[in-house]
Amino acid sequence: MTIVVTGGAGFIGSNFILDWLALSDEAVINIDKLTYAGNLENLQSLTGHNGHVFVRSDIGDTETVGELLRTHKPRAVVNFAAESHVDRSIHGPADFIETNVVGTFRLLEAVKSYWTELSDADKQAFRFLHVSTDEVYGTLSPTDDAFRETNRYEPNSPYSASKAASDHLVRAYHHTYGLPVLTTNCSNNYGPYHFPEKLIPLCIHNALSGKPLPIYGDGQQIRDWLYVKDHCSAIRRVLDAGQLGETYNIGGWNEKANLEVVETLCTILDELSPRKDRVSYAQQITFVKDRPGHDRRYAIDATKIERELGWKPAETFETGIRKTVQWYLDNQTWVGNVTSGAYQNWVGQQYGA
Ligand code: NAD
Ligand code: TYD
Repeated sequence: MTIVVTGGAGFIGSNFILDWLALSDEAVINIDKLTYAGNLENLQSLTGHNGHVFVRSDIGDTETVGELLRTHKPRAVVNFAAESHVDRSIHGPADFIETNVVGTFRLLEAVKSYWTELSDADKQAFRFLHVSTDEVYGTLSPTDDAFRETNRYEPNSPYSASKAASDHLVRAYHHTYGLPVLTTNCSNNYGPYHFPEKLIPLCIHNALSGKPLPIYGDGQQIRDWLYVKDHCSAIRRVLDAGQLGETYNIGGWNEKANLEVVETLCTILDELSPRKDRVSYAQQITFVKDRPGHDRRYAIDATKIERELGWKPAETFETGIRKTVQWYLDNQTWVGNVTSGAYQNWVGQQYGA
């Protein structure tokens, strides 16, 4: 048997493929356009592994995707492909609409067409799992309950609005055409292969490079951190046992303010790789202009997936963040390769000189 993964050379998709192939013999067809965020180096350890087939394509290329589906006959498609960075969506929302909305629509069309031609038994067994975000629910005040699957969609950034639109399309393809879909909405991931434009890898990289650790606004915005491998295990669980047409929130039960996250990173780095002058990396923390429309707090209530599917995260923030810092210290060549070239243009545009 075979599954298709889209966006499998990005952060979460590549972790998902590595874990999948470590745990099973089922082959993965990885469809990825390789934007700035896609990096085949993440999958270098699979070189020569015949369970991984990489195809460079846009999810919106219905013809190529349709042909791949008919050739490989997957029993499932797991859709990670997206533009994923809020700050980039503020500078240039067009790519987000193109991939997250139009691309998802075209992918759904290709999948529907393939699925319609399957035998009844294969049709029933087929799954389209759409990976989405907690950001579609908008923002919480400090005293609000955490997001449940029943919360209203109130997206506030071009990124979250485009993901919300894609979730609605996925839902509609289930209700209208009967496509067997599952949707997961997860909180902020962190872990190996995280591109250093996001808070945690950016701050690890900047700390080690002697650069400022930029904290937007007052740094008291709260995110609910999920170790990427826990996210991958939750997706596998939903794929195995999720109820068709349902959505599942996935979170780490780890609400932390941004400033606390960065201070924790500094403390671990002080221990594992101290500065030559023995001054704490925390000295590099710099408060910068806030992100426009910055959501104040995200928190996931992950009781449904625990109650119905028996899934719980294995890592606490303390264990996951230590592993993550160690991974970055051990993989400085990977960091060096992804932070050369175009990355510098982004840093210049977002943070100035
Ligand atoms: P990422 O930016 O690291 O990777 C995205 C991947 O998609 C890249 O490999 C890129 O090349 C590929 N891609 C982009 N446009 C494409 C297109 N048109 N066709 C084919 N491939 C394309 O993102 P990530 O952090 O790995 O996120 C994966 C998914 O999880 C996204 O859907 C994102 O919205 C969702 N998500 C991420 C987080 C997080 O904390 N990173 C949290 C919640 C949800
Ligand atoms: P980010 O990693 O971009 O994820 P998201 O916006 O999807 O939550 O940002 C996490 C939090 O960290 C968010 O509140 C914005 C903040 N942040 C900073 O304070 N400084 C930075 O340089 C970045 C990239 C993010």
